[in-house]
Amino acid sequence: MNKIIVANWKMNGSQPFIQEFFRAWEKPNNQNKVIFCPPFPYILLVKQFCSLVGAQDCHEQDQGAFTGNVSAKMLHDLGCLYVILGHSERRQYHQESNQLIQKKAENAQKNGLTPIICVGENLECRQSHQAIPTVLAQLAESLPIAGDMIIAYEPIWAIGTGLTATTREIAEMHQAIADVYPNVPILYGGSVTADNAAEIMAISHVDGVLVGGASLKPEALMRISA
Ligand code: PGA
Repeated sequence: MNKIIVANWKMNGSQPFIQEFFRAWEKPNNQNKVIFCPPFPYILLVKQFCSLVGAQDCHEQDQGAFTGNVSAKMLHDLGCLYVILGHSERRQYHQESNQLIQKKAENAQKNGLTPIICVGENLECRQSHQAIPTVLAQLAESLPIAGDMIIAYEPIWAIGTGLTATTREIAEMHQAIADVYPNVPILYGGSVTADNAAEIMAISHVDGVLVGGASLKPEALMRISA
C-alpha cells in the first residue's frame, strides 16, 4: 500500500540548508507520497526540488487586514497542494480552537488545498484512559464536513520527546478513527524515526507518518520513505 510521508520542518531551515538537503535527497523508488512542509518563506525554493509541497498553517480568510498571516489562496498561488492545520504547537502557542481549525480547513479546501488536520491527547488524558473519546471529539469539531482531507494522529506527549506510542496504542486509536472516518487517510506522528517508521506504518489503518525532527535529515527521511 502506498504511504503518505509528511515532512514538517517547523521553524527550521535556511536557503543553504535547503540546497544542501536536496543535494543529498533522492526521491524514493516507490509510489509513496513525500510532502514537504517548509516555513512559508522557503515554499518556492523547496518547490524547485519537489512537486508535493505544503504549508504548516493558513488563515481562515482569503485576504484582508490580517497582519502577519498567510491565506490558503496565497499558498495555492505558490503551488502548494497541502496545509497542516491544528498542529498541537499551533493549538498550544496560538490558542487555536477546533472551531477555528475547521474554518481554516474549509477555506483551504475551497482554495484547492488538502488539509492535514492534527489531533492528539496529552499525557494526563492518555493516563486517565480518555485518549480515544478526546481525539474523536477533536475530530468531530475540527474536520471539514466533506471533501479531501488527511487526519494526523499525534499524541502530544510523543512529539519531539523521543517517546512513541506503543503499537497497541496506535492500533487502537487508528481503528477508532477509521471506524468513524473510513475514507480518510490517517497518519501517525510523534518521534517517528528511520528506525521505527516501518514498524509503525505496518500497523493497520496507519496510512503514513507525519515526521518532525527526523525529516530535517535527508538520509533519515529517505529511509522512512523507502
Ligand atoms: P517529531 O514531531 O517527529 O519531532 O516528534 C512530529 C510533529 O510535531 O509533527
